[in-house]
Amino acid sequence: MRDTRHGAARRLVSTLGIALAASLAAAFAPVAATARAAPQDAAGAGQPAHAPRQRLLLDDGWRFHRGDPDGNSGPYLYDVRPEVTVSADGKVADAMPEEAARVARAGTPVLKAWILPSGNAFIRDPARRHARPALDPAVDAPYARAGFDDSGWRAVTLPHDWAIEGPFLTTGPYGGMGRLQTWGPAWYRRKLDIAASDRGRKVFLDVDGAMAYASVWVNGHLAGGWPYGYNSFRIDLTPWLQPGGTNQLAIRLDNPPESARWYPGAGLYRNVWLTKTAPVHVGLWGVTVTTPEVTPASARVAWQVALDNDGSASASATVTTELYVLDEHGRIAGKPVATTQSGPATVAAGASVIVAGATTVVRPRLWGPPPTQKPQRYALVATVRQDGRVVDRYETPFGIRTVRFDPDRGVVVNGEHIPLRGVNNHHDLGALGAAFNVRAAERQLEIMRAMGANALRMSHNPPDPQLLDLADRMGFLVMDEVFDSWQRKKTPLDFHLIFPDWHEQDLRAMIRRDRNHPSIILWSVGNEVGEQYTGEIGAAVGRELVAIAHEEDATRPATGAMNYAKADMPLPGTVDVISLNYQGTGIRTLPGQFPMFRAAYPGKVILHSESASALSSRGEYQFPVPGVLSAAVRPGAGGDPATRQVSAYELFAADFGASADRAFASLDQNPYTAGEFVWTGFDYLGEPTPYYEARSSYSGIVDLAGFPKDRYYLYQSRWRADLPMVHVLPHWTWPGRAGQVTPVHVFTSGDEAELFVNGKSQGRQKKAPYAYRLRWDFVTWEPGEIRVVAYKDGKEWARETVRTAGAPAALQAQADRTTLSADGRDLAFVTVRIVDGAGIPAPRARDRVRFTVEGPAELVATDNGDATSFESFQAPDRAAFNGLVLAIVRTRAGAGGTITVRASGAGLRGTAVTMHSKLPASKAGTPEFQPRIISQM
Ligand code: GAL
Repeated sequence: MRDTRHGAARRLVSTLGIALAASLAAAFAPVAATARAAPQDAAGAGQPAHAPRQRLLLDDGWRFHRGDPDGNSGPYLYDVRPEVTVSADGKVADAMPEEAARVARAGTPVLKAWILPSGNAFIRDPARRHARPALDPAVDAPYARAGFDDSGWRAVTLPHDWAIEGPFLTTGPYGGMGRLQTWGPAWYRRKLDIAASDRGRKVFLDVDGAMAYASVWVNGHLAGGWPYGYNSFRIDLTPWLQPGGTNQLAIRLDNPPESARWYPGAGLYRNVWLTKTAPVHVGLWGVTVTTPEVTPASARVAWQVALDNDGSASASATVTTELYVLDEHGRIAGKPVATTQSGPATVAAGASVIVAGATTVVRPRLWGPPPTQKPQRYALVATVRQDGRVVDRYETPFGIRTVRFDPDRGVVVNGEHIPLRGVNNHHDLGALGAAFNVRAAERQLEIMRAMGANALRMSHNPPDPQLLDLADRMGFLVMDEVFDSWQRKKTPLDFHLIFPDWHEQDLRAMIRRDRNHPSIILWSVGNEVGEQYTGEIGAAVGRELVAIAHEEDATRPATGAMNYAKADMPLPGTVDVISLNYQGTGIRTLPGQFPMFRAAYPGKVILHSESASALSSRGEYQFPVPGVLSAAVRPGAGGDPATRQVSAYELFAADFGASADRAFASLDQNPYTAGEFVWTGFDYLGEPTPYYEARSSYSGIVDLAGFPKDRYYLYQSRWRADLPMVHVLPHWTWPGRAGQVTPVHVFTSGDEAELFVNGKSQGRQKKAPYAYRLRWDFVTWEPGEIRVVAYKDGKEWARETVRTAGAPAALQAQADRTTLSADGRDLAFVTVRIVDGAGIPAPRARDRVRFTVEGPAELVATDNGDATSFESFQAPDRAAFNGLVLAIVRTRAGAGGTITVRASGAGLRGTAVTMHSKLPASKAGTPEFQPRIISQM
């Protein structure tokens, strides 16, 4: 079989046309900008059958089945796996990773030899690329055969996460992975009609992510695959397809148990595409755009286009590039602002060349984070011609900006110092599981933005490419991270199993896919890896990964998050930026970590890649409240092992973590650090520290349903200092606590506040240095109301009143948007609040609420944010948790109209909310925040 040959080492750089050598050199100056999303077809809707490039969304028409034929997965294994004898469930998150177990491989038939060649394009050294064995593997794969009758299999639409349907595993060591079974084989089958006129064209399967160990079969042949479940990959289907008829695609996935410290999801959980091109075409992620010089007057935009020739004869091609302004929806606006034309480049059969050039944009519209800057973007459209005929056209969104890492201040974007106010998030979308949905992700980012967040760390794996598009459009700064483990393991069957064979391919693939995104400012090669503990041996691995990152992108620094490494250990020396998890004054046993790192690495920026890991359950207040600033959760002090809830006073944290207040103090006492990424913005499935019997985490600033916890307002008070706001806790509905001490804490962007209980002042307090909340710890509860009036510079700034509620009496519903797109993907998030007879929120209500949907939409999930709930996410009714419950409703494709979501509950006055689902105005229009789907096959 042919070897995939377009590795960087075999590329010839052809500097043609206006592509000056000087501009190429400048393109790699360490001042960055750029962008890109999944490769997009510029041909637009309604393209002719022979548009130069077709990018077809393959999300419909799949059949799905769990398990292998007669239950035997032996013959389809990617590789032999070690036996799992000890579960890693419940292991402390920052425990030392262990050495990999050895496995006996001899004699076991595995598919690895046929899958490894799929990564060849990402192996730099040609001698290390993998040749496909001459024959197909000697396995009978009935589920891959064209003639197999899959009509009894379930019809599914992608993105699809089969594990989110549960049921929850109520016993056993499964808390870490979210108490949902994500492991075991699963097959997806789909027919592909390939026209006779496609003969001679290239046909690729582009998978944005498949969880995990994908093997791709075409007409019964194993075409290739990709083990790492978080990366995007391409499989060349051409050799196996029969144009002029129906072809059979089958994808087998095989998630291992004990493979993650959080919920990985399962299935084809991201988009899958079919890309058809002419033999001479732009390679996978083949366009790179950089902006080596940026001033207010002009920006130099340098580009490289990798041209692949998959034909049998040498070809001569030219590349024209046009630069366009993109509007805020990501649509091309107006005429090109710059155009370049290359001379002819010769590409030998089976080879690649890079055609490079540069141009100037006058008075560039810069990309930068709001609120002080705007996330403005451009697109580069590359048109490839052979003999004057257009053979390919490829659009690359990018941004023009400068990012400087200043060891004394942190991150400087376009000359402005931007303190990182970031959050870590895992990839699941709560009740929707890992199946990516643009609107669900956009809602998460909107909630984060309203809190004042300006940065995201993709912990700890490459995200769906559309999340990066959202970050570009909304102006978040991103740390893009590739691995949670290297050679040493955190869980028995995690990525360490394939690190030796795949780390180069996975790291290069992530960077090539993502390097044009203006939102990305930093690559992270790993998180808290075991190699922190192995001195020079571990540092050598770090050095190799950082070198790869630099080879793939000389414009951005590389980092790796450390929780154990100290300034005098070898690993920190290998990274450009020092990223520390939880190491702040007083947080770790070793005080003064930041000054020590600063002294050892005066030229490197230091940032808090994970801060806080504070824990709480929304609306759960436990008494007595210790008079501490920050404490580990303990039974009776922050935690209740009987209910498995953590107190919402927001003073409690993981053993190695700290309250938000303590983390803020650490930042303020080390002002040269670049800022923080809080662990975490949202609760996520799995890792339910400290109660591994639960299903989801307690660390989110926002709960799994998307409802802010009290902590949200603590972050808002700091991150949006100019927003007049005040938030008071706890709620004031405490029948049974009359006469008992019920502390009242206040978060405000003001500097002072006065608290009143039923009109009686409890005194006025001012924020002390390094204090971030105001607290009245000796208030006695009595029914009625508490009112807080906040001041700034002596003037009234904001006020809030909280009243004692009576018995639950009614439901109130609110949808996050009133107009939706009838595209079968758009979602409405309907929040239902339980209130008393006077409309006062009933903060402890747990009544069951039932949802029904009328009109062109369906209910897809419900949730209440309770980490201990084992109710099905797909159930149409669900108990409220502390007064709130959520319904997620999806529009029907192609059916506009009024959608009514009704909520009812026994003994409660029901409610309804209506929305409008709108058909796109014109087919050519690009719906806001939707991927540009050219057509669906
Ligand atoms: C860190 C780790 C994260 C998460 C967190 C939980 O040590 O990097 O992935 O486990 O702890 O608090």
